Amino acid sequence: MARISFQPSGRSVEVPAGTTLLDAVVAAGLPIARACGRDGLCGRCGVHVVAGASAIGPESEAEAAAKGRNRIDPTIRLACQARVLGDLQLTTSYW
Ligand code: FES
Repeated sequence: MARISFQPSGRSVEVPAGTTLLDAVVAAGLPIARACGRDGLCGRCGVHVVAGASAIGPESEAEAAAKGRNRIDPTIRLACQARVLGDLQLTTSYW
């Protein structure tokens, strides 16, 4: 299990390793954009990693392509594509 904290909301959840960041956000009851329905196309589900960047799985080709296509900051992770490996903290501008 991994504990995911969401700043600045102060909420947190525990999820099994391998859970997508997006599913962790939904489990915490927080909003997150997902225009393409988790297909890794729209780039709207981007989140910033505050702490624990090494506790997220490597960027897939689909995630890298979506970020490039949508001109997304390379430090942002797409929540529908990135998977939890351990404890971490995430933020967005709207939590
Ligand atoms: S929901 Fe569209 S890229 Fe993640």
